[in-house]
Amino acid sequence: MHELRRRPAALRRPAGGNGLSRRKLLKAGAIGALSTAAGFGKAAAAAPGRFPEGFRWGISTSSYQIEGRGDRTADCIWDTFARRPGAISDRSNAEIACDSYHRFQEDVALVAGAGLKAYRYSISWPRVMPQGSGRVDPRGLDYYSRLTDRLLEAGIEPWVCLFHWDLPQALQDRGGWTSRAIADYFADYAQLMARHLGDRVGHWVMLNEAAVHAIMGHGSGEFAPGLKSEAAMYAAMHHQNLAQGRALAALRAVGGERFRLGTVMSLQPVRPGGGRAENAAAAALWDALWNRAFLDPLFHGRYPPLIARSLEKLIEPGDLATIRQKVDFLGVNYYGPVYRRVAAGGFLGGNWGAPPADMPRTAMGWPIDPAALSDLLLELRDRYGDPVLYITENGAAFHEEPTAGRVADTQRIAYLRDHILVCHRAIAQGARLRGYFVWTLMDNFEWTHGYTAHFGLASVDRATLKRTPKESYDWFAKIAASNAI
Ligand code: FCB
Repeated sequence: MHELRRRPAALRRPAGGNGLSRRKLLKAGAIGALSTAAGFGKAAAAAPGRFPEGFRWGISTSSYQIEGRGDRTADCIWDTFARRPGAISDRSNAEIACDSYHRFQEDVALVAGAGLKAYRYSISWPRVMPQGSGRVDPRGLDYYSRLTDRLLEAGIEPWVCLFHWDLPQALQDRGGWTSRAIADYFADYAQLMARHLGDRVGHWVMLNEAAVHAIMGHGSGEFAPGLKSEAAMYAAMHHQNLAQGRALAALRAVGGERFRLGTVMSLQPVRPGGGRAENAAAAALWDALWNRAFLDPLFHGRYPPLIARSLEKLIEPGDLATIRQKVDFLGVNYYGPVYRRVAAGGFLGGNWGAPPADMPRTAMGWPIDPAALSDLLLELRDRYGDPVLYITENGAAFHEEPTAGRVADTQRIAYLRDHILVCHRAIAQGARLRGYFVWTLMDNFEWTHGYTAHFGLASVDRATLKRTPKESYDWFAKIAASNAI
């Protein structure tokens, strides 16, 4: 469990909710074999079907994981964090990463080659605003301009994410997300990008996985900026929510209804470790922190009762109204359920719990449970006002080695297929799911795992940086072309 990259958080089905339970799905025979070790990967024949017209098939990346430093003059918090001895498992850093800064044309061609019509990428804040506010670096702006133009020329819809964890170090030095002032800095930066790209970009994502950034970056300290403080975690939570609200309003003012505005959350079902009743409270707390601390204020204008008191002193009059915004879509990053258990001395009195022994896992140890995705999508419909949804990340790390230059990544294909099948089923059940983006285009800098965790549909030779499509790339291209699974 040690190697599990915390994927806490998950939505537990509300008691008496009318979501489609896994049991019901099993009964319906739709995904019968999905979540057993033996059956994983054998479910393809169960529910072949077409997706609605206009369903978007896309792929997601993030700036820090692929770009490399290029012309960026200022550090972000991950540069600083990666210099800590032992922070990155293979002692690597992202100075080069996939060098997408110089090879973006090739990368756009890779997206286009799979026939994908949408590409989600993030902006490196310090690349365009080295100090996080004030002076703008025209080279940074120009890079994102050229990338966006190239995508459009290739017939690919650009989806811009404004923050995927690479905060300018200069802002961290001023308190980062623990300081309320960041909400204004973020809104200014969002506006800058909207003015710069808004004539070409319609889809805007405010934040990527604010929960991971708050909890792992500020609470448990496993990710940059590496703070280990409950107070910092709650502050990062509230200030990200607030910044998101301000940015949504600022972008609406720039682009009106022409813009499609949303945000991306890591939503993972949280379950008691070992299925034990004594772990239920630990799971409920984690669910509140990971999922509801972001869903509840955005859609309902309040914090979940379990953690509301810890946030109280951060909230100023009007904050919750600022945070509760109309979004045009919610992006869901789904990987699998997480398990929590009570642990004296652990972070917030808990720790990672064990998934059932027979639950299949990825190479990183993350549990695989496609059926839980269906519950999640239907719960979003029932509890959060039926928002338009996109799967903005889904994928798995497996370490298949190339044979004769070719990676036959059958496990990744099985993982993707089983999750896409569940998406198809959830749409039939009424989820307003409008698209599916794979994580990710190519093997890259996977945060604390460095280059050892491979999520890509293409491999990257670390010596030459040559990209080579895996079998999953061709497989996904066929799904996108036929709009069917
Ligand atoms: C998500 C992150 C993404 C990548 C995948 C595997 O939580 O958004 O950057 O690390 O997990």
